[in-house]
Amino acid sequence: MTQQIELVNNLLKWFSENKRWMPWRETKNPYLIWISEIMLQQTRVETVIDYYNRFIKKFPKIEDLAHASEEEVLKLWEGLGYYSRGRNLHKAAKQMVEKYEGVVPSSYKEIIKLPGVGPYTAGAILSIAYNQPVAAIDGNVMRVYSRLYHIEQDIMEKKTIDQVRYLVEGMMPIGNCNDFSEALMELGATVCTPKNPNCCQCPIQEYCLAKQLGKENDLPIRINKTKVTQHHKAILWIQREDKILIKKNKEKGLLAGMWVLPTLETQGKFKKIAEIQQEVDLSYGGIKINQYIGDEKHIFTHQKWNIAIFIGCCNKKSMNIEEEYQWLPIEELKNIALPTLYQKVISHCQSAIKE
Ligand code: ADE
Repeated sequence: MTQQIELVNNLLKWFSENKRWMPWRETKNPYLIWISEIMLQQTRVETVIDYYNRFIKKFPKIEDLAHASEEEVLKLWEGLGYYSRGRNLHKAAKQMVEKYEGVVPSSYKEIIKLPGVGPYTAGAILSIAYNQPVAAIDGNVMRVYSRLYHIEQDIMEKKTIDQVRYLVEGMMPIGNCNDFSEALMELGATVCTPKNPNCCQCPIQEYCLAKQLGKENDLPIRINKTKVTQHHKAILWIQREDKILIKKNKEKGLLAGMWVLPTLETQGKFKKIAEIQQEVDLSYGGIKINQYIGDEKHIFTHQKWNIAIFIGCCNKKSMNIEEEYQWLPIEELKNIALPTLYQKVISHCQSAIKE
């Protein structure tokens, strides 16, 4: 047997004996695999399991998802973050029902056109659900291969990713591409970990160049070029009788399509009520800021928000507000999809109001 066949066999045997149980591993249904792969992007397996189960209970078939409202979809996504994933999932389901009779396309050329489907997701669906020799290259797979083949290039570069894709696809076992794809992800997640990899437990340690050279802790090489930017924000709880002012974000950008509280970008740190009142007067008339509640910090992928929270009221019966704003009865806050940050802010405000 050549070395490469041995390597693949060792990995597959290890996977069949050691794989963790996950609900999407009980199926090869492309619709369900697609949902799990979208949810798993940048999110831990343990977090995804409950969301996945709730989602497929509510939308067992692609038609159920296609016919749902965006509000319903985002409500089920609440707390999972990266909400554009949920919005794209919904859009893609509609396209698949309209164009492909409710079947997830099985060709790379078609599947890659769907909203929210990039090369990783396309590879994951085609290999896991359709058993095709298409690589699903994520951070785990890049780490495993950069160690296995001692690749000392930046794993964020397209050239390096293409090199790894070539290596993975060259050894995908026909007929068993699904297990091979998942075995690589599993190895990266549980054994070939970013820090202190557990090489003693690794089924392919004898083929690993980094291990032979004692370099497993020096790889992969990752030169991070994206910087986290700092933002100062004021978030406002504005009440009118038993209603609160909320806003539906535009279709594009961070937290697109989500309901939020009125949020102002400020130049620096604002704490004085008079200062924030001036800013509020420029954006909305008829609102009086009464109280500064405290601060909160939140990190989105490339943005750090330093937040000051204020409570205010509106005494005018009619106020000119733009169409994306709405007065919502406070007890209905639980029925709309709110990002985790805003849920935290709301619970701060509600405790402050009770005091
Ligand atoms: N991460 C991304 N896809 C995965 C899968 N199918 N199983 C486990 N972890 C994953």
